[in-house]
Amino acid sequence: MQAANAPLRGVVPVPGDKSISHRAALFVLLANTRCRARGWLESQDTLCSLEAVKALGAQVIHENGALELVPPDLSELPSGSLSIDCGNSGTTTRLLCGLLAGWLPPGDLEVVLSGDASLSSRPMGRVVDPLRSMGADIQYLEKDGHLPLCLAGADLHGEVCRLNVPSAQVKSAMLLAALNASGKTVVRGAGSSRDHTERLLATMGIDVGGFPGTGDLDLVGPLKAGSYEVQVPADPSSAAFYQVAAAMIEGSCLRVENQSLNEGRAGALAVLKRAGAKVVVSARRGAPGEEMGDVEVSFGPLRAFQIGAPEIPSLIDELPILAVLATQAPGVSLITGAEELRVKESDRIAAMTVALKKVGADIEELSDGWRITGPTVLSGGTVEQPVIIGIVGDHRIAMAMAVAALVSEGTIALDDDECVGVSYPGFFQTLERAIK
Ligand code: S3P
Repeated sequence: MQAANAPLRGVVPVPGDKSISHRAALFVLLANTRCRARGWLESQDTLCSLEAVKALGAQVIHENGALELVPPDLSELPSGSLSIDCGNSGTTTRLLCGLLAGWLPPGDLEVVLSGDASLSSRPMGRVVDPLRSMGADIQYLEKDGHLPLCLAGADLHGEVCRLNVPSAQVKSAMLLAALNASGKTVVRGAGSSRDHTERLLATMGIDVGGFPGTGDLDLVGPLKAGSYEVQVPADPSSAAFYQVAAAMIEGSCLRVENQSLNEGRAGALAVLKRAGAKVVVSARRGAPGEEMGDVEVSFGPLRAFQIGAPEIPSLIDELPILAVLATQAPGVSLITGAEELRVKESDRIAAMTVALKKVGADIEELSDGWRITGPTVLSGGTVEQPVIIGIVGDHRIAMAMAVAALVSEGTIALDDDECVGVSYPGFFQTLERAIK
């Protein structure tokens, strides 16, 4: 990657939201008839969810981002043991745990969930423990708390679960299990994480008690769902890479159309504004399902910013690229309350510290975030001998450092750029086209 500092301009086509695309694939297992999604993200991660529901008997037609899914006939489920490879995807794994725990008929079929090395090192006890307290039959096959695990059907009962981490994946697992549990399930402390599960369930005719709101959620099961038809908005976590680039490079102005404006995902836009970028949102539409609109971000003289715990869930996946933004903002930026970043696809606090230090950033690693002093002209190597950044196989570290390369005075290369396909195949081509 050649250093450029060249402005980015125009409309960037950002693919569909990853969280909603996972749910649009997985929730066909709950539906009573044909479901449809438009703008569906086809990436390595979301294809894991799609392959999983196919393996469980769903019929899928998938063309140009349009997905049509027919739920499986439960009387024709295979028996014995079925292996599902969840790849790199925490969302596939954790949502499937909740969904299958009470959906699989007891006694007939066991499902083994496995994943790649990164996913196998991530904590699963956060979903398995509360699901077991609802009666779920889940066994770890190798190491306690980790994939691979084996799920069998069981009669679930409602429970009061308290979320110890503000995680949408854990909350969703509980709600999905509650649909097939008898009695009332209450999920406490659920308010602050993304609410795509609650919204898609509402489209399917299931009202989650307490939603919308920031307090406890509840469901009285068992409940039957209808079907859904959804338009998947552009993913704000993917859009953020370009939007930060536009904010940092003078003369830039980028527009993303149909971007999700879901409040639980809008934190990065708020930070961009606080940091001095110009952010204009127009053509809001799509509420009460998933709100979307057009977002234009232009360069603005930057200033340091702070992000604390309450805001973290609304921008958790954008933190690596916001760390890059902080290197260009005059003053001391402080990001705290983000310890969850240590258990993502990599330890993102450590990975970004190492990567940004390597190109000369003034960054201090904290247990739960970073202290970053800017502005720094980031360094690099020559075209013949670039500085090579280890991105530990993590798609968001790769994209964040590709954007850092745009404001570096030397050449930066990544040791792996294929992993961007986990959430954003085509990222580099779109970035290249936006540079004028
Ligand atoms: C996701 C929730 C978040 C996020 C992940 C996708 C989801 O994880 O980081 O990329 O689709 O529910 P947590 O629920 O662990 O915070």
